[in-house]
Amino acid sequence: MINQVQLPSVFSNTREVVAPTLTLVEGLEYNARLKMDGLKLLSSLPKNSIPVAFFDPQYRGILDKLAYGNEGQDRGKARCNLSQMDASKIKAFIKAIDHVLIPTGHLFLWIDKFHLCTGFADWFAGTNLDVVDLIIWDKDRMGMGYRSRRQAEFLVVSQKQPRRAKGVWQTHNIRDVWPEKITDRTHVHQKPVKLQGELIAAVSNPGDIVLDPAAGSFSVLEACLNRGRTFLGCDIEG
Ligand SMILES: C[S@@+](CC[C@H](N)C(=O)[O-])C[C@H]1O[C@@H](n2cnc3c(N)ncnc32)[C@H](O)[C@@H]1O
Repeated sequence: MINQVQLPSVFSNTREVVAPTLTLVEGLEYNARLKMDGLKLLSSLPKNSIPVAFFDPQYRGILDKLAYGNEGQDRGKARCNLSQMDASKIKAFIKAIDHVLIPTGHLFLWIDKFHLCTGFADWFAGTNLDVVDLIIWDKDRMGMGYRSRRQAEFLVVSQKQPRRAKGVWQTHNIRDVWPEKITDRTHVHQKPVKLQGELIAAVSNPGDIVLDPAAGSFSVLEACLNRGRTFLGCDIEG
C-alpha cells in the first residue's frame, strides 16, 4: 500500500500577513481625496508600512506614441490637460512605492498596450518588485486606435519580495480577463471599481491601508470603502 502524504495546498484562503499600524504626518488623512504630489505623499511614509498599492501613471508616452497631430484639441483635450508623467517620473514613483510596501506586499500597476508590448522592465530595475501576474480589463467599450480599436486595458500584478501567494493571496475568484463596464464616467482614465475591490480583498485584511498616489477619480477610494479597507491617496489635480 502506498503511504499517502497530505501535502498542503498551494491555494490558501487564509492571509497570514499582518500589516503594521501607521501614524500619518500632519496634513494627511485617511479616506480623503488629498490634493498633492504623489511623490510627496510617498516620501512622508515609512519603509515597509503599506500592504497594497495601486499606480495608474499618466503616461506621457501614449501621447507621443499616438501622435495624432491634434494633441490638446478636440478628443484628446481631457487627456492632455492632465499632468503627464515621463519615464523618469514613473520610475521615481515605482521606486518610492517599493520602499513603502511591506515584504510580500502588492503593487497593481495599470499599463498601456505600448509599454506592455515594448517592455517596462526598466521601471522595476533596482527594486524588490517581481511581476507575478497580468489581468486584462475588458471595458466593453470601444476606444481609439489606428489599427485595432482598443477595448482592453492591462494590469500588471507585482509583489515585493519574498514572492509567494500561499498565505498572502486569499481569494481565488478573479479571472485574468475581467469584464466590467463603467457607466458613470467622471474621469477619462477611470478604472473598474469592482475589479480593484476584488484585488484589494485578495491581498489585504479589513482595515488595512491601500495606497494610490495618482488617484484620478479616486476609484480605489470607492473600492476601499466598499471593502472596509482604509484608503490613503492623492492626485496632483485634487
Ligand atoms: C491615469 S490617471 C489615474 C486614474 C485613476 N486610476 C482612476 O481610476 O480614476 C493619472 C492621474 O495622475 C495624476 N498625476 C499626474 N502627476 C501626478 C503627481 N505628480 N502626483 C499625483 N498625481 C499625479 C493626474 O492628475 C491623473 O489624474
